[in-house]
Amino acid sequence: MLNSNKALSQRIHPLLAPLAIRGLAIANRFVMAPMTREMSRGRVPGQDVAAYYRRRAEGQVGLIITEGVGVDDPAAVDVPNVPAMYGAAALAGWKQVVDEVHAAGGKIMPQLWHQGAMRDAAISPEPHVAPRRPSGVIGPIGKVSLEAEKLARLEIKSAPLTDSEISDIIDAYARSAANAAQIGFDGIAIHGAHGYLPDNFLWSGTNLRTDRWGGDPKARAEFPAELVRAIRRVIGDELPILFRFSQFKMQDYNARLADTPQELEQILTPIADAGVDIFDGSQRYFDTPIFEGSPLNLGGWAKKLTGKLGMCVGGVGLDRGKRDHHIDSGSAASDNLDRLVARFEQGEFDLVGVGRSLLNDPDWVGKAIRGEPFLPFDNNNLSRLT
Ligand SMILES: Cc1cc2nc3c(=O)[nH]c(=O)nc-3n(C[C@H](O)[C@H](O)[C@H](O)COP(=O)(O)O)c2cc1C
Repeated sequence: MLNSNKALSQRIHPLLAPLAIRGLAIANRFVMAPMTREMSRGRVPGQDVAAYYRRRAEGQVGLIITEGVGVDDPAAVDVPNVPAMYGAAALAGWKQVVDEVHAAGGKIMPQLWHQGAMRDAAISPEPHVAPRRPSGVIGPIGKVSLEAEKLARLEIKSAPLTDSEISDIIDAYARSAANAAQIGFDGIAIHGAHGYLPDNFLWSGTNLRTDRWGGDPKARAEFPAELVRAIRRVIGDELPILFRFSQFKMQDYNARLADTPQELEQILTPIADAGVDIFDGSQRYFDTPIFEGSPLNLGGWAKKLTGKLGMCVGGVGLDRGKRDHHIDSGSAASDNLDRLVARFEQGEFDLVGVGRSLLNDPDWVGKAIRGEPFLPFDNNNLSRLT
């Protein structure tokens, strides 16, 4: 049994401060991190998916970010049971999710997802649809956990995106964001991390272009900035936009988007200026420093460099010693909240993402608030809709 001490609720008290972002008011700083579940048959989230998100809202999570949701482009996502943010059936399914979360007092944003260079057409229902890659490449491969066969398929070069294809993809994001706003979502989260499409433009390993979409870090940020502007135009001023980014890629866990704070500033500033409200810096452990000479995490750097809200994530409520990457087995529950709160109180970040702890227990935040013991970690919960 972990954390049976009564003082837990007092220790986390600072994280229970409410926050207003544009027209969105959230009750506390705990955010459910986006997690792909592959449980939406035919790309339509069903009653079980709505109930899964509702349980997290009932468990007092301040803001839920959904699993990655395909934008309105046939090349957005590969595996069949990843949900879509287009089409009448999927939108009706999402409306039910939103309504249930709101009925339970929660707030929810969809994570708009386009896999870009990482989409594996062979495992998708649309195998004939060409990949969408800025420069037709998947980028330099380093430390990965991809099967050799999949990697071989992804390493086949394709045609770089044309200007009009890029413009069509931006429209696809805008259409899906408009759909989400129409349904009643509380904001829009963009998946700009981990080697997927927006990150393919940001990273010099996948963006070899010399036109307006490529070149120096500022030019590589042009596509994500255009996405943010297009989304802002269709959703209006009330809904916040969150942008997730990362150093690591599915192509290489050791890859780096930026080698220095200056480089990161050049990358993030145009995206911030385009209208992002929250930067979600994705990393494995919230307390791993990003650049030498400073303890700041990635969300902390984004906050410092852009003046926008910063969100961190990685290993909250989990024992880092027991695993190597984000979805392997062998994690263990662990109370590391003091270290998290200490950083929060220093102003490093404004929001904290909680991933696997919330898969393990929908009431993880509620338990922390009430000072109740956390459940032991059960890896089976990673693959079911508990
Ligand atoms: C099962 C699973 C699925 C995930 N799917 C996504 C995803 O769709 N989009 C995304 O940005 N991150 C995804 N992630 C990463 C999480 O959002 C989070 O950053 C990561 O799990 C680290 O947080 P944690 O240590 O609290 O779990 C996923 C993680 C897990 C465990």
